[in-house]
Amino acid sequence: MSERLEDIAIAMVASGKGLLAADESTATIKKRFDTIGLESTADSRRDYREMLFRSDDAMKNYISGVILYDETLRQNAKDGTPFVQILKAAGSIAGIKVDAGAKSLAGFADETITEGLDGLRERLAEYYKLGARFAKWRGVINISDALPTWGAVKQNAQALARYAALCQEAGIVPIVEPEVLMDGKPGTHTIERCYDVTEWVLKTVFTELYDARVVLEGMLLKPNMVIDGKNARKASVEQVAEQTLRVLKATVPSAVPGIAFLSGGQSDEEATAHLSAMNAAHDLPWKLTFSYGRALQAAALSAWNGKPENVAAGQRAFAHRAKMNSLAATGGWKKDLEEAA
Ligand code: 13P
Repeated sequence: MSERLEDIAIAMVASGKGLLAADESTATIKKRFDTIGLESTADSRRDYREMLFRSDDAMKNYISGVILYDETLRQNAKDGTPFVQILKAAGSIAGIKVDAGAKSLAGFADETITEGLDGLRERLAEYYKLGARFAKWRGVINISDALPTWGAVKQNAQALARYAALCQEAGIVPIVEPEVLMDGKPGTHTIERCYDVTEWVLKTVFTELYDARVVLEGMLLKPNMVIDGKNARKASVEQVAEQTLRVLKATVPSAVPGIAFLSGGQSDEEATAHLSAMNAAHDLPWKLTFSYGRALQAAALSAWNGKPENVAAGQRAFAHRAKMNSLAATGGWKKDLEEAA
């Protein structure tokens, strides 16, 4: 396989394929396991992720790459096979979350800055040796009447750009993820407000990427969709698709090969419907696909329920969502396919 950044990025957004975000930190996966009453241990985390990664049909046909967490990149399946090897055998690329999380931003009440730049060059070199060929860094922007501030937007964009440049130096494709939250506090903003903030954030991010000399052909963007707050949802599928395409056309250079959305708190079916509606448009300059965490995993987690006898059911649920999102990635999803399943 060729190792040019450009080729890796293109493979990650191959037609009808998308990314599985399985990079929950230890704290986040604990929250997910709490919902099924399962204790989070190294073994339970391994068993859960092994169930997903060994879903052969889903992995081979619909998933181009998997974003892992540090522990998982180094972890083996129960029989001792490294997870990275299982992904490779399924034709899927291993990726790694390299940010250290969003922390309070000094001087800016209720805003965050994502940490993890110190020592990142050395960590990237190690991750490359462990088999990672792409990385992810998430900056978080919350909307309220008074937020975000320019200071927070600018500092998060600068961190994303410095991260992306370090990745490319290391031969790793950066996924640049500036997430404007739909489920932040209070989560009551309109779709118009989400449009304005998302446009501002993306404009700022691409300016910083340019200043940091990031090669656009060798990166992917992972944005939020333009959608109203989770506690005030009313925009239709068509509105979300239209406004999201409008903001992307206004801000994302066509040199970027692909855009892989986060699900951000949308229901499984909403996340699929929105992606499909966008891909029904013609002549888009970039591939549009999914890089979902919750919207790809929620049904599988609940079907599995932490029980070995439910592995096949969990895999069926995962394969179904992966297939629906694969169809959405080419604009071919239909609601009745959900009901048929
Ligand atoms: P969600 O799809 O659950 O938002 O997760 C994607 C992700 O990687 C967030 O950083």
